[in-house]
Amino acid sequence: MKYIIAIIRPEKLADVQRALVERDIYLMTVSDVRGCGRQKGFVEQVRSRTLVNLVTKLKIEMAVNDEFADAAVDAITLAARTGETGDGKIFVLPLGSCVHIRSGAAGPSAIGP
Ligand SMILES: Nc1ncnc2c1ncn2[C@@H]1O[C@H](COP(=O)(O)OP(=O)(O)OP(=O)(O)O)[C@@H](O)[C@H]1O
Ligand SMILES: [Mg+2]
Repeated sequence: MKYIIAIIRPEKLADVQRALVERDIYLMTVSDVRGCGRQKGFVEQVRSRTLVNLVTKLKIEMAVNDEFADAAVDAITLAARTGETGDGKIFVLPLGSCVHIRSGAAGPSAIGP
């Protein structure tokens, strides 16, 4: 099991969702977040700024079974890319446990359909 955290441009959510659903991946949690990358949140690439600017981004979190992890990362990467700075990042973590609260089921079968 893997836990995928993707930070993307908010306006790319619909494209990313479409790309994921095409691969039969649709269970997700989405949050509005703010953050900064290497440009410290500024449009021009000035790395010596002492203040960082926090830019509105969107965080997608998904627990997936191992066989879906590469497809999910590929879909997000392709759909969220503009080629400009600020496209975001994807973090993939090993997931130790997942419990489906309604049934009490635990493990890979608890992740989804
Ligand atoms: N190392 C990191 N840890 C946590 N969040 C990060 C990290 N890097 C980027 N992010 C998040 O991703 C968002 C977008 O990052 P961004 O795409 O600007 O990364 P970057 O490394 O600056 O790449 P680029 O040079 O293409 O802009 C940030 O606003 C922040 O929310
Ligand atoms: Mg950046």
